[in-house]
Amino acid sequence: MAVGIFDSGLGGLTVLDAAQKRLPDVDFLYYGDNARAPYGVRDAEDVYQLTKAAVHDMWDKGCDLVILACNTASAAALRRMQEGGLPQGKRVLGVFVPLIEALTERQWGDNSPPREVEVKHVALFATPATVASRAFQRELAFRAIGVDVEAQACGGVVDAIEDGDMILAEALVRSHVDALKRKMPHPQAAILGCTHYPLMEQTFQEALGPEVKVFSQGSLVADSLADYLTRHPGMHGNGKGGFYTTGNPGRVSDRATQFLRREITFQAA
Ligand code: DGL
Repeated sequence: MAVGIFDSGLGGLTVLDAAQKRLPDVDFLYYGDNARAPYGVRDAEDVYQLTKAAVHDMWDKGCDLVILACNTASAAALRRMQEGGLPQGKRVLGVFVPLIEALTERQWGDNSPPREVEVKHVALFATPATVASRAFQRELAFRAIGVDVEAQACGGVVDAIEDGDMILAEALVRSHVDALKRKMPHPQAAILGCTHYPLMEQTFQEALGPEVKVFSQGSLVADSLADYLTRHPGMHGNGKGGFYTTGNPGRVSDRATQFLRREITFQAA
C-alpha cells in the first residue's frame, strides 16, 4: 500500500519528508523524473505530457493516489488531467491549494466565496513555467480579494539544486530576491512556489528579512494529505513504496541522501 509523490526531480523530497513525519504509518512511492528536469523551462504541453506519463506509471506501480509535489506540474497538468477523466479509483492532487488555504487562513476544503484577508502584499517565487501559467493567482482569486501578488521567475535555481551546486543556488536565490524587492519593496509574505526551494529556505528568509513570513509547502501539504486520507481511507493503493527515478539511480540517491540527511536508495523507474 503506497501513496505516490511525484516531482520532476528532487524537490518533491521536501514534501515526502514532511509527509513521512506527519504520517509515519503510511508507505510512500516517490517518483522523480530527473532525466527530464527541470520542467520549469518547458512549455505547458510538454509538462502536461511528461506529468501524465509519469502519473500513469505510478498508477501502474499500484498507487491509487498521486500527489503532484511539483508546482510546475500542478499548474500545467492537474486541472487538465482531472477534467480529462481519471481511471476508476485513481486520484491525482496538487500542491497549490493547501498553500493558498494557509495563506488565506482557511480550513482545508473551505469553498466559501472570496473574502478580504490579513495579508495584502505577497511575493511569489516559482519556476518560469509556473509564473507564466498564473495558476497561483487564479487559485488565490477564488479565495481572497485585494491581495497584490508580485511574481519572480527564479531561472536557474532548480538546475543548480539538481546539480548539487548549492553555492550557485544560493547566489541565484539572493539575486532573485533582490529583483523581487525592486518590484515590491515590502512584501508581508513570501510563497516558495516550487518544491525545490524549501531546500534553500534559510537563504530566502535571510535575503527577505525576518519581517517577511515565508510559506513553504512541505508541512502544509502533509497536513492536507492527512486530512484527505482521513476522509478517503481507501486511497492507500496496493503497491509497494520506494524511490524511483528516470535519471541515474546512483547519482540521484547521493543527492537525496545529502538533502534528507538519511540513506535514500533510488531504483530505475
Ligand atoms: N519542483 C518543481 C516545482 O515545484 C519543478 C521544478 C522544475 O523541474 O523546474 O515547480
